[in-house]
Amino acid sequence: MEVLRIGIFASHGGSNMQAIIDACKEGELDAKPAVLISNNSKSGAIERAQKEEIPYYHMSSSTHPDPDNLDRTILEILESYEVNLIVLAGYMKKLGPITLRRYKGRILNIHPSLLPKHGGKGMYGEHVHEAVLKAKEDVTGITIHLVDENYDTGDIIAQSVIPVLEDDTVETLGRRVLHREHEFYVETLIKISSGEIRLSSPADIT
Ligand code: GRF
Repeated sequence: MEVLRIGIFASHGGSNMQAIIDACKEGELDAKPAVLISNNSKSGAIERAQKEEIPYYHMSSSTHPDPDNLDRTILEILESYEVNLIVLAGYMKKLGPITLRRYKGRILNIHPSLLPKHGGKGMYGEHVHEAVLKAKEDVTGITIHLVDENYDTGDIIAQSVIPVLEDDTVETLGRRVLHREHEFYVETLIKISSGEIRLSSPADIT
């Protein structure tokens, strides 16, 4: 089994990224966080990458105004670090078509609800938990799915169910879901690394 070389994409805090890094450092997950790409030069994710001495790149429409050039340059970076799995962890931009095509079937995203419920454009962060509470759901959860050209529509790889408590607020629910995300992303990556969850083969990345 080929060792996972993960290219992480994150826009904000990067707590999921940190959970993945920690699991690799502790030997729980047999993978290498190879590079971080962030569209936000002030993101917590970049700070974390600096501390962890993981290479990182600020890549956005301000660094690369031409979307095609941005897409190609991101792909070059991923290839130069021999990335064989892309992990989106709170990445607020869409990947370009060239990167999507090259890594088809090997790009994961985590979403803080049980998709297809409460997903799609504009459904991120607090908006998701607000919608869950408004819909008076008994349960919510986490979805890890493959990424395609739309928001939150790719094949579902794994889901984890989390009960909604009677006195939950957006904050309490959001905290519980995020805490579980950290465990669940790692658990799912372990299953991918061991072959228990099968993605398309890294050899298909040419
Ligand atoms: C998580 O809730 C994730 O589900 C969503 O964005 C948030 C990222 O949090 N896609 P962090 O940056 O990993 O702390």
